[in-house]
Amino acid sequence: MSASLSLTPWVQAEIDQWVSKYPPSGKRSAVLAALRIVQEENGGWLSPESLEAVACYLGLPPVEVQEVASFYSMYERKPVGRHSISVCTNVSCMLCGGEAILAHIEKRLGIRPGQSTPDGRFYLKPEEECLAACAGAPMMMVDHVYYEHLTSERVDEILDGLP
Ligand code: FES
Repeated sequence: MSASLSLTPWVQAEIDQWVSKYPPSGKRSAVLAALRIVQEENGGWLSPESLEAVACYLGLPPVEVQEVASFYSMYERKPVGRHSISVCTNVSCMLCGGEAILAHIEKRLGIRPGQSTPDGRFYLKPEEECLAACAGAPMMMVDHVYYEHLTSERVDEILDGLP
């Protein structure tokens, strides 16, 4: 079975839409979108096989796709919890209590950055660089949604509200 067959027809159609936005020689430009689509479809992470499938589908050397997947922090290369939490501890957030927010989440979930809870519900991403919401410090991103001006109580509300 060729690696491209492991991409579902839905994933292939989504990737095709992105490929169509670029000149025929520009399939490489669709790698970021293709990896995002495959990661969503694959439960939040990219297996070695899925990276190979993307490379095969786009006609690129596997190493090029692996390099992109390892460079960007938005791609996960191991299974992670369902809800992804990124706490910013860069300068503005640190000055406004970001480290205390991170410590609160670590204590509440019993995990450290880079780990998932044993029930598979949460994944605390490794500490991020500035997430470009400094005016809302301290802040975190949960499943790509920004939450700003955080307190421990507000963090609890947000996490309690997730399925
Ligand atoms: S320092 Fe946290 S968003 Fe910029």
